[in-house]
Amino acid sequence: MPTRNSVHDSVLDLIADTPIVRARRLDAGPCELYFKLESQNPGGSIKDRIGLSMIEAAERRGDLRPGATLVEGTAGNTGIGLALVAQQKGYKLVLVVPDKMSREKIFNLKAMGAEVVLTRSDVAKGHPEYYQDLAERIARETPGAYFVNQFGNPDNPAAHEHGTAPEILRQMGEAGGLDAVVFGCGSSGTMTGLSRHFAEHAPEVELILADPVGSILAEYINEGTLSDKSASWMVEGIGEDFLPSISDFSRVRKAYAISDRESFLAARELLRSEGILGGSSTGTLLAAALKYCREQTEPKKVLVFVCDTGNKYLSKLYNDYWMLDNGFLEREQYGDLRDLILRPYSQRDTVVLAPGDLLMTAYQRMKLYEISQLPVMENEKIVGILDESDVLLHVYGDEARFRDPVSTAMVSKLDIMDVKSPVEALLPVFDRGQVAIVVDGDRFLGLITRIDLLNWLRRRVQ
Ligand SMILES: Cc1ncc(COP(=O)(O)O)c(C=O)c1O
Repeated sequence: MPTRNSVHDSVLDLIADTPIVRARRLDAGPCELYFKLESQNPGGSIKDRIGLSMIEAAERRGDLRPGATLVEGTAGNTGIGLALVAQQKGYKLVLVVPDKMSREKIFNLKAMGAEVVLTRSDVAKGHPEYYQDLAERIARETPGAYFVNQFGNPDNPAAHEHGTAPEILRQMGEAGGLDAVVFGCGSSGTMTGLSRHFAEHAPEVELILADPVGSILAEYINEGTLSDKSASWMVEGIGEDFLPSISDFSRVRKAYAISDRESFLAARELLRSEGILGGSSTGTLLAAALKYCREQTEPKKVLVFVCDTGNKYLSKLYNDYWMLDNGFLEREQYGDLRDLILRPYSQRDTVVLAPGDLLMTAYQRMKLYEISQLPVMENEKIVGILDESDVLLHVYGDEARFRDPVSTAMVSKLDIMDVKSPVEALLPVFDRGQVAIVVDGDRFLGLITRIDLLNWLRRRVQ
Protein backbone atom coordinates (compact mmCIF):
# COMPACT_ATOMS: atom_id res chain seq x y z
CA MET A 1 0.00 0.00 0.00
CA PRO A 2 1.70 3.28 -1.07
CA THR A 3 1.74 6.01 1.56
CA ARG A 4 1.72 9.76 1.04
CA ASN A 5 5.51 9.66 1.23
CA SER A 6 5.89 7.32 -1.75
CA VAL A 7 6.26 8.26 -5.40
CA HIS A 8 2.89 8.01 -7.16
CA ASP A 9 1.73 7.35 -10.68
CA SER A 10 -1.21 9.73 -10.60
CA VAL A 11 -2.45 12.66 -8.59
CA LEU A 12 -5.59 10.59 -7.97
CA ASP A 13 -3.53 8.38 -5.63
CA LEU A 14 -3.26 11.39 -3.34
CA ILE A 15 -7.01 11.56 -2.73
CA ALA A 16 -8.01 10.55 0.84
CA ASP A 17 -5.71 9.25 3.58
CA THR A 18 -5.52 12.82 4.89
CA PRO A 19 -3.60 13.62 8.08
CA ILE A 20 -5.06 14.53 11.48
CA VAL A 21 -3.46 17.10 13.74
CA ARG A 22 -4.20 17.85 17.40
CA ALA A 23 -4.97 21.40 18.55
CA ARG A 24 -2.28 22.75 20.85
CA ARG A 25 -3.42 26.26 21.68
CA LEU A 26 -7.19 26.59 21.26
CA ASP A 27 -9.18 26.46 24.50
CA ALA A 28 -11.31 23.32 24.17
CA GLY A 29 -12.36 23.17 27.85
CA PRO A 30 -11.87 19.64 29.19
CA CYS A 31 -11.69 18.15 25.67
CA GLU A 32 -9.02 17.43 23.12
CA LEU A 33 -9.67 18.73 19.65
CA TYR A 34 -8.35 17.13 16.46
CA PHE A 35 -8.44 18.43 12.87
CA LYS A 36 -8.85 16.18 9.84
CA LEU A 37 -7.07 18.05 7.06
CA GLU A 38 -9.26 17.41 4.01
CA SER A 39 -7.65 20.58 2.67
CA GLN A 40 -4.67 18.38 1.82
CA ASN A 41 -6.48 16.50 -0.92
CA PRO A 42 -4.99 17.41 -4.33
CA GLY A 43 -8.01 19.53 -5.32
CA GLY A 44 -7.94 21.20 -1.91
CA SER A 45 -11.14 19.79 -0.42
CA ILE A 46 -13.09 16.82 0.92
CA LYS A 47 -14.99 16.71 -2.39
CA ASP A 48 -12.09 15.05 -4.21
CA ARG A 49 -13.21 11.87 -2.45
CA ILE A 50 -16.67 11.92 -4.00
CA GLY A 51 -15.30 13.06 -7.37
CA LEU A 52 -13.40 9.79 -7.43
CA SER A 53 -16.08 7.53 -5.92
CA MET A 54 -18.96 8.80 -8.06
CA ILE A 55 -16.97 8.42 -11.30
CA GLU A 56 -15.42 5.06 -10.46
CA ALA A 57 -18.75 3.58 -9.35
CA ALA A 58 -20.33 4.72 -12.63
CA GLU A 59 -17.44 3.08 -14.51
CA ARG A 60 -17.94 -0.19 -12.65
CA ARG A 61 -21.64 -0.18 -13.53
CA GLY A 62 -20.80 0.44 -17.18
CA ASP A 63 -22.54 3.84 -17.15
CA LEU A 64 -19.51 5.59 -18.68
CA ARG A 65 -18.06 4.84 -22.10
CA PRO A 66 -14.46 6.01 -22.76
CA GLY A 67 -14.47 9.74 -23.46
CA ALA A 68 -18.02 10.17 -22.09
CA THR A 69 -19.35 13.55 -20.93
CA LEU A 70 -20.09 14.12 -17.25
CA VAL A 71 -22.53 16.86 -16.27
CA GLU A 72 -23.02 18.43 -12.83
CA GLY A 73 -24.47 21.63 -11.40
CA THR A 74 -21.92 23.19 -9.04
CA ALA A 75 -19.27 25.88 -8.83
CA GLY A 76 -17.91 24.62 -5.62
CA ASN A 77 -15.42 22.06 -4.49
CA THR A 78 -17.35 19.20 -6.12
CA GLY A 79 -16.67 20.85 -9.48
CA ILE A 80 -12.97 20.85 -8.76
CA GLY A 81 -12.97 17.25 -7.50
CA LEU A 82 -14.86 16.09 -10.58
CA ALA A 83 -12.66 18.15 -12.92
CA LEU A 84 -9.55 16.56 -11.46
CA VAL A 85 -10.80 13.01 -11.86
CA ALA A 86 -12.45 13.61 -15.26
CA GLN A 87 -9.27 15.16 -16.61
CA GLN A 88 -7.07 12.30 -15.41
CA LYS A 89 -9.45 9.67 -16.76
CA GLY A 90 -10.10 11.37 -20.10
CA TYR A 91 -13.77 12.34 -19.66
CA LYS A 92 -15.34 15.61 -20.72
CA LEU A 93 -16.95 17.60 -17.91
CA VAL A 94 -19.70 20.20 -18.25
CA LEU A 95 -20.39 22.23 -15.11
CA VAL A 96 -23.46 24.43 -14.80
CA VAL A 97 -22.60 27.33 -12.56
CA PRO A 98 -24.87 30.06 -11.12
CA ASP A 99 -23.66 33.49 -12.26
CA LYS A 100 -23.10 34.79 -8.71
CA MET A 101 -20.04 32.58 -8.29
CA SER A 102 -16.64 34.24 -7.99
CA ARG A 103 -14.54 34.64 -11.12
CA GLU A 104 -11.63 32.86 -9.43
CA LYS A 105 -13.66 29.66 -9.10
CA ILE A 106 -14.72 29.79 -12.74
CA PHE A 107 -11.14 30.42 -13.91
CA ASN A 108 -9.97 27.51 -11.77
CA LEU A 109 -12.54 25.11 -13.28
CA LYS A 110 -11.80 26.19 -16.85
CA ALA A 111 -8.06 25.90 -16.29
CA MET A 112 -8.63 22.28 -15.25
CA GLY A 113 -10.32 21.61 -18.58
CA ALA A 114 -13.99 21.76 -17.58
CA GLU A 115 -16.57 23.44 -19.78
CA VAL A 116 -18.46 26.03 -17.73
CA VAL A 117 -22.06 26.96 -18.58
CA LEU A 118 -23.22 30.04 -16.69
CA THR A 119 -26.85 30.27 -15.68
CA ARG A 120 -29.09 32.58 -13.65
CA SER A 121 -28.66 32.62 -9.89
CA ASP A 122 -31.96 34.43 -9.24
CA VAL A 123 -34.24 31.45 -9.91
CA ALA A 124 -35.27 28.60 -7.60
CA LYS A 125 -35.47 24.82 -7.82
CA GLY A 126 -38.01 23.80 -10.47
CA HIS A 127 -37.18 26.69 -12.83
CA PRO A 128 -35.63 25.43 -16.11
CA GLU A 129 -32.65 27.76 -15.66
CA TYR A 130 -31.98 26.75 -12.05
CA TYR A 131 -28.45 25.33 -12.17
CA GLN A 132 -29.35 21.80 -11.11
CA ASP A 133 -32.39 21.59 -13.41
CA LEU A 134 -30.32 22.93 -16.30
CA ALA A 135 -27.52 20.42 -15.61
CA GLU A 136 -30.04 17.58 -15.66
CA ARG A 137 -31.48 18.79 -18.96
CA ILE A 138 -28.05 19.15 -20.59
CA ALA A 139 -27.22 15.60 -19.50
CA ARG A 140 -30.53 14.33 -20.91
CA GLU A 141 -30.01 16.05 -24.23
CA THR A 142 -26.31 15.10 -24.67
CA PRO A 143 -25.86 11.61 -26.14
CA GLY A 144 -23.98 9.28 -23.77
CA ALA A 145 -23.79 11.91 -21.01
CA TYR A 146 -23.91 11.06 -17.31
CA PHE A 147 -25.62 13.35 -14.78
CA VAL A 148 -23.50 13.12 -11.63
CA ASN A 149 -26.06 14.66 -9.24
CA GLN A 150 -24.21 14.67 -5.90
CA PHE A 151 -27.43 15.52 -4.01
CA GLY A 152 -29.13 12.30 -5.09
CA ASN A 153 -26.20 10.00 -5.84
CA PRO A 154 -25.64 7.13 -3.35
CA ASP A 155 -21.98 6.90 -4.45
CA ASN A 156 -21.47 10.23 -2.64
CA PRO A 157 -22.17 8.96 0.92
CA ALA A 158 -20.52 5.66 -0.03
CA ALA A 159 -17.18 7.49 -0.38
CA HIS A 160 -17.44 8.48 3.28
CA GLU A 161 -18.98 5.24 4.56
CA HIS A 162 -16.22 3.10 3.06
CA GLY A 163 -13.42 5.70 2.98
CA THR A 164 -13.52 8.66 5.34
CA ALA A 165 -15.20 6.91 8.30
CA PRO A 166 -12.94 3.82 8.63
CA GLU A 167 -9.93 6.05 8.00
CA ILE A 168 -10.94 8.28 10.94
CA LEU A 169 -11.56 5.35 13.29
CA ARG A 170 -8.16 3.85 12.43
CA GLN A 171 -6.32 7.15 12.89
CA MET A 172 -8.12 8.10 16.09
CA GLY A 173 -7.65 4.56 17.38
CA GLU A 174 -3.92 5.30 17.29
CA ALA A 175 -4.59 8.52 19.23
CA GLY A 176 -6.52 6.72 21.97
CA GLY A 177 -10.10 6.74 20.61
CA LEU A 178 -12.82 9.10 19.47
CA ASP A 179 -15.88 10.48 21.30
CA ALA A 180 -17.44 12.97 18.88
CA VAL A 181 -17.20 14.25 15.30
CA VAL A 182 -18.26 17.74 14.22
CA PHE A 183 -19.18 18.15 10.54
CA GLY A 184 -21.20 20.32 8.19
CA CYS A 185 -23.87 19.30 5.75
CA GLY A 186 -24.07 20.37 2.11
CA SER A 187 -25.11 17.46 -0.06
CA SER A 188 -25.13 15.46 3.23
CA GLY A 189 -22.74 12.86 1.83
CA THR A 190 -20.23 13.24 4.65
CA MET A 191 -22.84 13.00 7.40
CA THR A 192 -24.78 10.11 5.89
CA GLY A 193 -21.64 8.10 5.14
CA LEU A 194 -20.12 8.62 8.60
CA SER A 195 -23.46 7.81 10.23
CA ARG A 196 -23.76 4.49 8.46
CA HIS A 197 -20.26 3.32 9.22
CA PHE A 198 -20.29 4.49 12.83
CA ALA A 199 -23.72 2.90 13.46
CA GLU A 200 -22.07 -0.44 12.87
CA HIS A 201 -18.50 0.05 14.05
CA ALA A 202 -18.52 2.87 16.60
CA PRO A 203 -22.10 3.56 17.74
CA GLU A 204 -20.89 5.43 20.84
CA VAL A 205 -19.32 8.25 18.78
CA GLU A 206 -21.53 11.38 18.94
CA LEU A 207 -22.37 13.09 15.66
CA ILE A 208 -22.58 16.86 15.94
CA LEU A 209 -23.77 19.10 13.12
CA ALA A 210 -22.44 22.63 12.55
CA ASP A 211 -24.91 24.67 10.52
CA PRO A 212 -24.89 28.28 9.30
CA VAL A 213 -27.54 30.59 10.75
CA GLY A 214 -30.20 30.82 8.01
CA SER A 215 -30.05 27.12 7.09
CA ILE A 216 -32.98 24.92 8.15
CA LEU A 217 -30.93 21.97 9.41
CA ALA A 218 -30.04 22.98 12.99
CA GLU A 219 -33.69 23.53 13.88
CA TYR A 220 -34.60 20.24 12.24
CA ILE A 221 -32.07 18.36 14.39
CA ASN A 222 -32.68 20.15 17.69
CA GLU A 223 -36.45 20.62 17.55
CA GLY A 224 -37.59 18.21 14.86
CA THR A 225 -39.35 20.93 12.89
CA LEU A 226 -38.74 21.49 9.22
CA SER A 227 -39.02 25.17 8.41
CA ASP A 228 -39.98 26.32 4.95
CA LYS A 229 -38.16 29.60 5.57
CA SER A 230 -34.45 29.87 5.03
CA ALA A 231 -32.32 32.99 4.95
CA SER A 232 -29.03 33.61 3.18
CA TRP A 233 -25.56 33.10 4.64
CA MET A 234 -22.06 33.74 3.36
CA VAL A 235 -20.22 30.63 4.52
CA GLU A 236 -19.72 28.37 1.49
CA GLY A 237 -20.41 24.68 0.96
CA ILE A 238 -22.69 23.92 3.92
CA GLY A 239 -26.26 24.63 5.05
CA GLU A 240 -29.48 23.79 3.22
CA ASP A 241 -32.99 24.98 2.45
CA PHE A 242 -34.24 21.44 1.78
CA LEU A 243 -33.33 17.88 2.83
CA PRO A 244 -31.28 16.15 0.12
CA SER A 245 -32.70 12.78 -0.92
CA ILE A 246 -29.55 10.92 0.15
CA SER A 247 -29.57 12.44 3.66
CA ASP A 248 -29.96 10.44 6.87
CA PHE A 249 -30.03 12.64 9.97
CA SER A 250 -31.25 9.92 12.32
CA ARG A 251 -28.04 9.54 14.32
CA VAL A 252 -27.15 13.22 14.61
CA ARG A 253 -27.26 14.05 18.33
CA LYS A 254 -27.13 17.83 18.34
CA ALA A 255 -26.67 20.84 16.05
CA TYR A 256 -25.25 24.31 16.55
CA ALA A 257 -26.33 27.28 14.42
CA ILE A 258 -23.30 29.48 13.83
CA SER A 259 -23.37 33.01 12.36
CA ASP A 260 -21.15 34.12 9.48
CA ARG A 261 -19.30 36.41 11.84
CA GLU A 262 -18.51 33.62 14.33
CA SER A 263 -17.44 31.37 11.46
CA PHE A 264 -15.05 33.84 9.87
CA LEU A 265 -13.52 34.87 13.19
CA ALA A 266 -13.05 31.21 14.18
CA ALA A 267 -11.31 30.40 10.87
CA ARG A 268 -8.96 33.35 11.38
CA GLU A 269 -8.27 32.22 14.95
CA LEU A 270 -7.46 28.71 13.71
CA LEU A 271 -4.82 30.09 11.37
CA ARG A 272 -3.37 32.37 14.05
CA SER A 273 -3.27 29.81 16.83
CA GLU A 274 -2.70 26.47 15.11
CA GLY A 275 -1.29 27.48 11.72
CA ILE A 276 -4.13 25.77 9.83
CA LEU A 277 -5.49 27.63 6.78
CA GLY A 278 -9.09 26.44 6.39
CA GLY A 279 -12.05 27.68 4.38
CA SER A 280 -15.10 29.52 5.67
CA SER A 281 -17.00 26.36 6.65
CA THR A 282 -14.03 25.20 8.71
CA GLY A 283 -14.73 28.26 10.85
CA THR A 284 -18.36 27.18 11.29
CA LEU A 285 -17.31 23.68 12.31
CA LEU A 286 -14.63 24.94 14.68
CA ALA A 287 -16.99 27.43 16.36
CA ALA A 288 -19.54 24.64 16.89
CA ALA A 289 -16.85 22.24 18.13
CA LEU A 290 -15.56 24.75 20.67
CA LYS A 291 -19.09 25.29 22.00
CA TYR A 292 -19.60 21.56 22.29
CA CYS A 293 -16.22 21.03 23.97
CA ARG A 294 -16.72 23.79 26.51
CA GLU A 295 -20.12 22.36 27.47
CA GLN A 296 -18.63 18.99 28.38
CA THR A 297 -17.95 17.98 31.96
CA GLU A 298 -15.72 15.03 31.08
CA PRO A 299 -12.68 14.95 28.82
CA LYS A 300 -13.55 13.88 25.28
CA LYS A 301 -11.69 13.47 22.03
CA VAL A 302 -13.42 15.52 19.38
CA LEU A 303 -12.67 15.55 15.65
CA VAL A 304 -13.42 18.48 13.32
CA PHE A 305 -13.09 18.56 9.55
CA VAL A 306 -11.03 21.17 7.77
CA CYS A 307 -13.18 20.68 4.69
CA ASP A 308 -11.27 22.87 2.27
CA THR A 309 -8.23 25.09 2.04
CA GLY A 310 -8.42 28.76 2.96
CA ASN A 311 -6.43 29.65 -0.18
CA LYS A 312 -9.74 30.12 -1.94
CA TYR A 313 -10.88 32.71 0.57
CA LEU A 314 -7.83 34.98 0.84
CA SER A 315 -9.68 37.93 -0.65
CA LYS A 316 -12.68 37.32 1.62
CA LEU A 317 -12.41 36.24 5.23
CA TYR A 318 -8.63 36.58 5.36
CA ASN A 319 -8.83 40.11 3.94
CA ASP A 320 -9.23 42.70 6.73
CA TYR A 321 -10.86 45.22 4.36
CA TRP A 322 -13.48 42.71 3.28
CA MET A 323 -14.12 41.86 6.94
CA LEU A 324 -14.40 45.55 7.90
CA ASP A 325 -16.58 46.31 4.89
CA ASN A 326 -19.00 43.56 5.84
CA GLY A 327 -19.07 44.60 9.49
CA PHE A 328 -17.35 41.41 10.73
CA LEU A 329 -14.41 43.34 12.19
CA GLU A 330 -14.73 46.54 14.13
CA ARG A 331 -12.62 49.61 14.06
CA GLU A 332 -12.63 52.42 16.61
CA GLN A 333 -15.51 54.81 15.83
CA TYR A 334 -14.99 58.58 15.95
CA GLY A 335 -18.41 59.94 14.99
CA ASP A 336 -16.94 61.91 12.06
CA LEU A 337 -15.78 61.28 8.50
CA ARG A 338 -12.93 59.05 9.73
CA ASP A 339 -15.54 56.32 10.19
CA LEU A 340 -16.01 56.20 6.41
CA ILE A 341 -12.34 55.97 5.46
CA LEU A 342 -11.61 52.33 4.65
CA ARG A 343 -7.85 52.70 4.35
CA PRO A 344 -6.57 55.41 6.74
CA TYR A 345 -3.36 57.09 5.62
CA SER A 346 -2.03 57.15 9.19
CA GLN A 347 -2.05 53.34 9.28
CA ARG A 348 0.00 53.31 6.06
CA ASP A 349 -3.05 51.66 4.51
CA THR A 350 -3.64 54.12 1.68
CA VAL A 351 -2.05 53.30 -1.67
CA VAL A 352 -0.33 56.53 -2.79
CA LEU A 353 1.95 58.03 -5.43
CA ALA A 354 4.79 60.53 -5.32
CA PRO A 355 4.85 63.40 -7.85
CA GLY A 356 8.02 61.97 -9.43
CA ASP A 357 6.59 58.43 -9.96
CA LEU A 358 6.07 57.51 -13.61
CA LEU A 359 2.54 57.31 -15.02
CA MET A 360 3.34 53.69 -15.87
CA THR A 361 3.84 53.04 -12.14
CA ALA A 362 0.58 54.83 -11.36
CA TYR A 363 -1.26 52.74 -13.95
CA GLN A 364 0.20 49.48 -12.60
CA ARG A 365 -0.70 50.40 -9.02
CA MET A 366 -4.28 51.22 -10.04
CA LYS A 367 -4.58 47.84 -11.72
CA LEU A 368 -2.94 45.89 -8.91
CA TYR A 369 -5.16 47.35 -6.18
CA GLU A 370 -8.23 47.78 -8.40
CA ILE A 371 -8.50 51.45 -7.46
CA SER A 372 -9.31 54.11 -10.02
CA GLN A 373 -7.80 57.11 -8.22
CA LEU A 374 -4.70 57.63 -6.11
CA PRO A 375 -3.61 60.55 -3.89
CA VAL A 376 -0.23 62.08 -4.69
CA MET A 377 1.79 62.70 -1.52
CA GLU A 378 4.89 64.82 -0.94
CA ASN A 379 6.38 65.19 2.55
CA GLU A 380 3.21 63.84 4.21
CA LYS A 381 1.10 66.49 2.40
CA ILE A 382 -1.39 65.74 -0.31
CA VAL A 383 -0.37 67.69 -3.40
CA GLY A 384 -2.61 66.14 -6.03
CA ILE A 385 -4.89 63.36 -7.11
CA LEU A 386 -4.60 61.18 -10.19
CA ASP A 387 -7.38 59.10 -11.67
CA GLU A 388 -7.74 56.82 -14.68
CA SER A 389 -9.02 59.55 -16.96
CA ASP A 390 -6.11 61.86 -16.06
CA VAL A 391 -3.73 59.09 -17.17
CA LEU A 392 -5.78 58.30 -20.28
CA LEU A 393 -6.01 61.91 -21.48
CA HIS A 394 -2.29 62.40 -20.89
CA VAL A 395 -1.05 59.34 -22.78
CA TYR A 396 -3.67 59.09 -25.52
CA GLY A 397 -2.04 59.60 -28.92
CA ASP A 398 1.48 59.36 -27.52
CA GLU A 399 2.03 56.21 -25.45
CA ALA A 400 5.63 57.26 -24.73
CA ARG A 401 4.10 59.66 -22.22
CA PHE A 402 3.57 56.71 -19.86
CA ARG A 403 7.14 57.62 -18.89
CA ASP A 404 6.17 61.17 -17.82
CA PRO A 405 6.03 61.88 -14.08
CA VAL A 406 2.73 61.82 -12.21
CA SER A 407 3.07 65.57 -11.52
CA THR A 408 2.46 66.32 -15.22
CA ALA A 409 -0.96 64.64 -15.28
CA MET A 410 -2.34 64.95 -11.75
CA VAL A 411 -5.04 67.38 -10.67
CA SER A 412 -3.55 69.73 -8.12
CA LYS A 413 -6.49 72.03 -7.49
CA LEU A 414 -8.03 69.92 -4.73
CA ASP A 415 -11.44 70.02 -3.13
CA ILE A 416 -10.47 69.28 0.43
CA MET A 417 -12.98 68.34 3.10
CA ASP A 418 -12.57 68.81 6.83
CA VAL A 419 -13.04 65.66 8.93
CA LYS A 420 -15.81 67.34 10.93
CA SER A 421 -17.93 68.05 7.83
CA PRO A 422 -21.34 66.38 7.85
CA VAL A 423 -21.80 63.19 5.83
CA GLU A 424 -24.29 65.01 3.51
CA ALA A 425 -21.40 67.18 2.33
CA LEU A 426 -20.05 64.14 0.48
CA LEU A 427 -22.97 64.01 -1.93
CA PRO A 428 -22.13 67.08 -4.09
CA VAL A 429 -18.52 65.86 -4.27
CA PHE A 430 -19.64 62.50 -5.64
CA ASP A 431 -22.11 64.28 -7.89
CA ARG A 432 -19.18 66.09 -9.54
CA GLY A 433 -17.57 62.69 -10.16
CA GLN A 434 -14.85 63.31 -7.55
CA VAL A 435 -13.66 61.50 -4.45
CA ALA A 436 -13.59 63.22 -1.07
CA ILE A 437 -10.13 64.13 0.24
CA VAL A 438 -10.45 64.24 4.02
CA VAL A 439 -8.06 66.27 6.16
CA ASP A 440 -7.71 67.30 9.78
CA GLY A 441 -6.04 70.72 9.63
CA ASP A 442 -3.20 70.09 7.20
CA ARG A 443 -3.00 66.36 8.01
CA PHE A 444 -4.27 64.08 5.23
CA LEU A 445 -6.50 61.32 6.67
CA GLY A 446 -7.62 59.41 3.57
CA LEU A 447 -10.10 59.26 0.71
CA ILE A 448 -13.82 58.52 0.71
CA THR A 449 -15.46 57.14 -2.43
CA ARG A 450 -19.08 56.41 -3.31
CA ILE A 451 -18.71 52.75 -2.40
CA ASP A 452 -17.28 53.69 1.01
CA LEU A 453 -20.40 55.74 1.70
CA LEU A 454 -22.63 52.90 0.50
CA ASN A 455 -20.78 50.42 2.71
CA TRP A 456 -21.08 52.73 5.71
CA LEU A 457 -24.83 53.14 5.16
CA ARG A 458 -25.25 49.40 4.84
CA ARG A 459 -23.27 48.70 8.03
CA ARG A 460 -25.63 51.06 9.85
CA VAL A 461 -28.68 48.98 8.95
CA GLN A 462 -27.07 45.71 10.12
C1 LIG B 1 -16.75 23.47 1.94
C2 LIG B 1 -17.52 22.22 2.23
N1 LIG B 1 -17.98 21.47 1.25
C3 LIG B 1 -18.64 20.33 1.53
C4 LIG B 1 -18.83 19.87 2.78
C5 LIG B 1 -19.47 18.54 3.09
O1 LIG B 1 -20.65 18.51 2.61
P1 LIG B 1 -21.43 17.27 2.10
O2 LIG B 1 -20.64 16.03 2.19
O3 LIG B 1 -22.61 17.29 2.99
O4 LIG B 1 -21.73 17.69 0.70
C6 LIG B 1 -18.40 20.58 3.79
C7 LIG B 1 -18.65 20.08 5.11
O5 LIG B 1 -18.39 20.59 6.11
C8 LIG B 1 -17.73 21.78 3.52
O6 LIG B 1 -17.27 22.51 4.51
